[in-house]
Amino acid sequence: MAARADEAGGGSAGCVGGAVVADAPPRVLLVASEIFPLAKTGGLGDVCGALPKALRQLGVDVRLLMPGYPCALDRSADLRIAGAVDADAGESSARLLAGRLPDSDIPLWLLDCPRLYQRPGTPYQDPSGSDWPDNARRYAALCRAAVALARGDTAARWRPDLVHCHDWHTGLVPFLLRRAGVARPATVFTVHNAAFQGNFPWATAELLDLPDDAAGLEFYGQLSFLKAGIVYADKVTTVSPTYARELRSREFGCGLEGVFASRGADFVGILNGIDTEVWNPATDAFLARRYSPDDPAGKGACKNALQAQSGLRQDPAAPLAMFASRLTTQKMADVLAERMPTLLRRHATLQFALLGSGEHTLERRFIEISREFPGRAAIEIGYAESTAHRLHAGADLLLHGSRFEPCGLTQMYAMRYGTIPIVRCVGGLADSVADVETDASTATGFVFAEASGRAFEHAIERSLEVYATRPEVWREVRARGLAADFGWSRSAAAYLDLYRQLVPAPSAAARLAAWHQRIGDLARAGRARALVARTGT
Ligand code: ADP
Ligand code: GLC
Repeated sequence: MAARADEAGGGSAGCVGGAVVADAPPRVLLVASEIFPLAKTGGLGDVCGALPKALRQLGVDVRLLMPGYPCALDRSADLRIAGAVDADAGESSARLLAGRLPDSDIPLWLLDCPRLYQRPGTPYQDPSGSDWPDNARRYAALCRAAVALARGDTAARWRPDLVHCHDWHTGLVPFLLRRAGVARPATVFTVHNAAFQGNFPWATAELLDLPDDAAGLEFYGQLSFLKAGIVYADKVTTVSPTYARELRSREFGCGLEGVFASRGADFVGILNGIDTEVWNPATDAFLARRYSPDDPAGKGACKNALQAQSGLRQDPAAPLAMFASRLTTQKMADVLAERMPTLLRRHATLQFALLGSGEHTLERRFIEISREFPGRAAIEIGYAESTAHRLHAGADLLLHGSRFEPCGLTQMYAMRYGTIPIVRCVGGLADSVADVETDASTATGFVFAEASGRAFEHAIERSLEVYATRPEVWREVRARGLAADFGWSRSAAAYLDLYRQLVPAPSAAARLAAWHQRIGDLARAGRARALVARTGT
């Protein structure tokens, strides 16, 4: 077990506001490349924005670190300079800015290094869609800043007991902390998607000043940030129990199955939750009309508005299916593009709305489909948070085939908005959606097994049949999704349990001793003040 970091100002001293608390929750530094609402390209941002809020509710002293992208600098609250940090091996000057996650009291640091992060495009790619050529250096800098904070090598007085790292961008943190010595915080590394590995030519290791004899950094002759995280973290997690099993197999392990398997019981799956404040049809400001499980009528008005806004025929009875995701083969968007025209031809009332961006050939293909089916297929290529909310509210069905899916949040958003998901039985989709035919009393959607167009199409056909001929089943399934609890509380508690395995709560005796010590300190300080007052010295 990793040693607990020294007490260094603030934090969970077991004594809050003068009262002794029953437990001293760990201090956790959460490090990620995306944190909603500061930056988001997908579910990673959503999770890293929502999990800290849930941990905070459990009393965890969680603080955040991410790169100072322009959008993050714009959107952070109360930013101030918190001092220099040696993050880019002296190549460019970097500093930490301290602030707060908007609409919360969660402290955060942004790594401000304009040479690395002040760029147009997405966090990872230039505006033409090519990866930034210096991504290894950009995320190694994030890792070094995390290590500096964790070891007390910055002006920040707070030090974590544990660093929770997310995805390949943070994969060097566990390695660098191990190398830095024994008195280090514990580390947890969460894999959100093993297909994104942060692999770079081996020569990059030297440029980043990494040792060339650390086997855990090397993956088939390349430097791998993801492998480093898996090998060197004290505990490794992924975002659903099924994906944790799948990653140990050749089919899903992306070449790292042996590495995942080698972590044994130290590698577990914890299902993601969703932010039920951001995704709440009862309060969602993007919607034409709000609704809730007790009063779902507003969903019809949202469908109406969606049809009007996106140029679909105004038809309340038409089944409206939607897709709101990255246009990639992971999401079976290629299969959807191939099958959708047939389905639209076969079902004269079926409507299709899509929001997404990704592979350019797929983008072009969907635009062609919208031209082929005017009033029935509405395609928006791009990234728009507001449209995503309107689609979840206005549609009847979510089309979510995936070749693999670590967790998937979209299906949970859909269910919370009364939109019934059609999903493939993989990863977190398998863990969050139950099929109508398996057990009608617990069903929340339609599930298919094979990653084939035939299976996907068959599931869509099944859903259209229920929509048209068994409205009472449709209503029940929809109501179950609307009322289900997809919040973070259960999963945040599972993360806290995991943290506790690495940073055990102090024993009752230790807490009592700390309390006596504190009382003694206060008494001594009081006596000293009284003496000063009496003698004037
Ligand atoms: P992944 O992270 O693999 O893309 P998830 O389902 O976990 O899949 O999360 C995707 C998140 O990104 C959801 O919040 C979804 O609404 C959002 N998203 C994906 N594509 C778009 C888009 N084009 N516009 C707006 N939001 C999008
Ligand atoms: C990844 C996965 C997705 C998951 C998300 C958040 O992007 O592809 O399945 O929901 O991370 O963990």
